Amino acid sequence: MSQSAAATITARAGIAQDTAFGAVTPPLYLTTTYKLPGFKQPGQYDYSRSNNPTRDILADALCELEQGARAIVTGSGMSACLLALQLLGPDDTLVIPHDCYGGSYRLFTNLAARKQAFKLQIVNFQQADWAEKTTAAKPAMIWLETPSNPLLQITDVKAVCQLAAALTAKVVVDNTFLSPVLQQPLLLGADIVVHSTTKYINGHSDIIGGVLVAKDPALGDELKWWANCLGVTGPAFDSYMTLRGLRTLVPRLQLQQHNTSELVSFLQQQPLVSKLYYPGLADHPGHSIAKAQQSGFGAMCSFDLAAPADALPVFFASLRLFTLAQSLGGIESLICHPGSMTHASMAASAQQTAGIGPTLIRLSVGIEAPADLIADLQAGFHAVANWLSSQQNRVSSQQATSKAAASTKSDQQYRLNPALTAFW
Ligand SMILES: Cc1ncc(COP(=O)(O)O)c(C=O)c1O
Repeated sequence: MSQSAAATITARAGIAQDTAFGAVTPPLYLTTTYKLPGFKQPGQYDYSRSNNPTRDILADALCELEQGARAIVTGSGMSACLLALQLLGPDDTLVIPHDCYGGSYRLFTNLAARKQAFKLQIVNFQQADWAEKTTAAKPAMIWLETPSNPLLQITDVKAVCQLAAALTAKVVVDNTFLSPVLQQPLLLGADIVVHSTTKYINGHSDIIGGVLVAKDPALGDELKWWANCLGVTGPAFDSYMTLRGLRTLVPRLQLQQHNTSELVSFLQQQPLVSKLYYPGLADHPGHSIAKAQQSGFGAMCSFDLAAPADALPVFFASLRLFTLAQSLGGIESLICHPGSMTHASMAASAQQTAGIGPTLIRLSVGIEAPADLIADLQAGFHAVANWLSSQQNRVSSQQATSKAAASTKSDQQYRLNPALTAFW
């Protein structure tokens, strides 16, 4: 799907379809229940946990954007993930990537260990033996997150789906980091796509929501049944707000990607950045796969600060535009320290395995003027450079003081030692 097709779907979803009053903007139906046309005569809607007209407009738009058969709008990204996991039983194995959103990792590991909901196998899809390890696990489901949170690692969705087909495993892709405008996993062979619509799809950091899109209608119907049964469908008001946010998804992403590429060029030149993670860089290990399976490199990037972890508060405190906060994908730029924030639910050892270092910083780039964003980061790096040189000065002056103290001491020893005074 071209970006112009996506722009049309997002701008026109539900527009001018109101049969009651001819409202151009689709109305918000806050009702929980619906009048039956007559006794034992079902209407189109009966109860809003099952179906709601406002939520349906959003679901239809997201379904069309992902080119799926059914979409289920949920109350959060996590409930969309939980919904997909209903397809698994205690004897099934779920393969997950070693590097994914901390909350998803917490859900998978706790459901497996504390509820025996399924068996779990963690695979590093960046290593050459991923296919061998995945095959050996005999999975019923393979979970992918590409680009991954927070290291922007890229997984070859087509290659994994080909293997999954041979293993009769379902593939679920968390497409939160790109949105259907930049990546359509169902077209690459996946069975299910999930999103935290809290991020790019809503785009204004004022709604928590999620969506699950299924390629196969029967699978979608089964999951829709579970969504109603579990009560994970999203509220009508949140759907209304998300639909409003969705309308500008394409131009927002275009601007955010442009700003990200400007920031990445700046960060490449920055001596206090020891490693930069962005799939748009030619030397990123997943660059060519990203180029093939995405239609843009996205608006997230991460970097390791080349300073001790003690410099992090100095860096964060000197920023005026980048807000230190969890989440991503909004029109405002956010900065976060995955180790202590988004990925705090991963044990230190799991963080280390995933490659999340102590000074890893993640940026979610917004739509502000790129020059202002660069100036903001520049101020942060200056503050860290000053802090490092003051640390250096402190160490040097401490060394000088202890040297002086040592020589004063030896002076005193000379003076006080009657044996030595003979030399004066
Ligand atoms: C990749 C990814 N998936 C899922 C989620 C969970 O979404 P939510 O916070 O809407 O429940 C997040 C949240 O940050 C995320 O980054």
